[in-house]
Amino acid sequence: MSRRTKEILAKMTLDDKIYHLEQITTATYLTKGSTYKVITGPNSKLKLDKEMIYDIGTSLNLVGAETMIDALTNYLDKSKSKRPPVFMQDVIHGHRTLYPINLAVAASFDRELARELASMAAKEASLDGVGVTFAPMVDLVRDPRWGRVMESSGEDPYMNSEMAKATVRGFQGDMGKYNLAACVKHFAAYGAAEAGRDYNTVDVSERTLREYYLPAYKAAVDAGVKMLMAAFNIVDGVPCVGNKHLMKDILRDEWGFDGVVISDYGAVEEMIVHGACEDKKEAALRAIEAECDIEMMSSCYAEHLRALIDEGKVTEEQIDKSVLRILDLKESLGILDNPYRSVNVEESKRVQLSPEHRALARKGAEQSAVLLKNDGVLPFSKNVSSVALIGPLASTGKIHGSWHCGGRAEETVSVYEGLSKLLGDRVKYAPGCYVEYNSEDESLFDEAVELAKSSECVVLCLGEHQDYSGEANCRADIELPEIQYKLLDKILEVNKNVAVALFTGRPLAISRLHNTAPAILNMWMPGTEGGNACANLLFGNAVPSGKITMTFPRALGQCPIYYNHYTTGRPKLLKDDLNRVLYTSSYIDVPNSPLYPFGYGLSYTTFEYSDMSLSAAVMKSDEKIVASAKIKNTGGHKGKEAVQLYIRDVKGSCVRPVKELKGFEKIELDVGEEATVSFEITEPMLRYWNQKLEHVSEKGEFEVFIGKDSTCVPFAKFELI
Ligand code: GLC
Repeated sequence: MSRRTKEILAKMTLDDKIYHLEQITTATYLTKGSTYKVITGPNSKLKLDKEMIYDIGTSLNLVGAETMIDALTNYLDKSKSKRPPVFMQDVIHGHRTLYPINLAVAASFDRELARELASMAAKEASLDGVGVTFAPMVDLVRDPRWGRVMESSGEDPYMNSEMAKATVRGFQGDMGKYNLAACVKHFAAYGAAEAGRDYNTVDVSERTLREYYLPAYKAAVDAGVKMLMAAFNIVDGVPCVGNKHLMKDILRDEWGFDGVVISDYGAVEEMIVHGACEDKKEAALRAIEAECDIEMMSSCYAEHLRALIDEGKVTEEQIDKSVLRILDLKESLGILDNPYRSVNVEESKRVQLSPEHRALARKGAEQSAVLLKNDGVLPFSKNVSSVALIGPLASTGKIHGSWHCGGRAEETVSVYEGLSKLLGDRVKYAPGCYVEYNSEDESLFDEAVELAKSSECVVLCLGEHQDYSGEANCRADIELPEIQYKLLDKILEVNKNVAVALFTGRPLAISRLHNTAPAILNMWMPGTEGGNACANLLFGNAVPSGKITMTFPRALGQCPIYYNHYTTGRPKLLKDDLNRVLYTSSYIDVPNSPLYPFGYGLSYTTFEYSDMSLSAAVMKSDEKIVASAKIKNTGGHKGKEAVQLYIRDVKGSCVRPVKELKGFEKIELDVGEEATVSFEITEPMLRYWNQKLEHVSEKGEFEVFIGKDSTCVPFAKFELI
């Protein structure tokens, strides 16, 4: 905290301080439309003083420079204290120029790309008056039924941590005028919701919490993230936002985080619904004791903190600590000097959706796409005489993901637009079927089949509507809809030169698609430039290089399924994968192996790994050893390869995963080119949380793997002594 913020605090009344801890929608302050949204819309349930709302410290979610200026001017005009608010926004994967969903960006295995994309989003949002983004979301996920896997970086703690650091750096930069304060979320383990059902119970041991779920939040904190959001769910039976062990013992005391903590939307009051608090007063007490600084979209603080202070249950010093954190955040954003910060209508119009930003979003989509299968039909030739573009996701702009923020479907390049731009009128379109998962309407089949029959190649755009993933958009069935399979089968009867472009916010259990489609290019939800990226990839202007960071199951029944699992006492060996082996940890009806494993993704070229070496077979805790491999481009296209390092701790006082990602590097190789990739292995990389909850390495044997995905086998061992 600074002298300046302390001076501001000293002039604040208790009511000022309490209202500084509230957050409501920015639309409340608009002069156009109902000014008093406090009594209408989402604020209607809030019991806030109509005068004091102009001294609320922060607000959320409003897009557009002009509307921000209107809201802020009106706020300052009516505010007694004239203390400026900070505007916060869900800038999750882009602001106006949307890049791919985060699960796709992680699949790029490219830290610098993740940073660049976040930096672009920060500039666009800053020019629209935003100061804080509620991102990165770093929740580790293992269950594709959960709608929010699309916001995550997947199932691996190391990948999640690397993407968290890169994204925080991208958003925050040097906290200049085009940067945003980042807010890592959702603390903690929101992605462990049972049955993949949003907001559902989370029940993991503290050891598992620390081993798998906490590292990425810690990585963001260590990267200097300014804010953190407490999750809706319980951890160890206590809602996060009132969980002192999580929020104080671990976050504040153990990690030393002194940034702002905000609740998720209404989560403070939801402690009553959880059955953890009797009423709003107790919810306010539990949250302030857990040092939740901002209460988003509920009014327990505003209604009860004064009484709690009068009753001696809360001290004004506790309130002051939270107010100072918020004032320090505002100071770091320059808002105390200029309430309007970087908002600029004209510059915003110039920058948003600029050719440069579109080009970067397109690069993000091209680098994140994952080639799941290719029997040789891809890439299609650009000299093709005719292309049948078919499918429910072929002509829509709704391929930019569910956190579209300021992004607009009409500004998103559809596959139809992208292909037409590349190939002109050689592209003919037929919808083929509807996207609804329960559609049984085959009335569009004939037109599509006729078009396929008369075309040289077929691009078939299948998958999910973008609103089938994202918050509260969970699915109990993660197969493609039957109608899409029927369409595919009809198309294949008349044309075998077919590639499926898959649009999805999650891993899907698409064994049937894998068994029938000649090629599958997973575009995820690719963002504003999705159609151009898809066209470039399908026709060879770009070469796929993405690799999945969340396992694709063969069947939903395998979920949760993830690569970094424990062996169990009765593992089914990979060599027996397709056989029935009694009394092993396996299924009667489905192999244990996934459809596509963590780290998997194909290219139009091939890469050969050779000469793997380890610089030593023994390592002391203060030494390091180097693992290396040669990678050669042995195919016919220049391409990129995400080289992965895994390590297995063969024996521990607690059981250890069959392997863990400990490094990755994406390299580009020309045809015939060869490169050596090396990874340093140090003792801290070998540490894990033991039964005493100590973060330690244990002497003994470690296996080392370098490969193209998580199915790679160990090439060497070393002993930590
Ligand atoms: C939502 C989400 C959270 C988001 C917040 C503000 O419910 O859980 O991720 O940042 O509310 O929109």
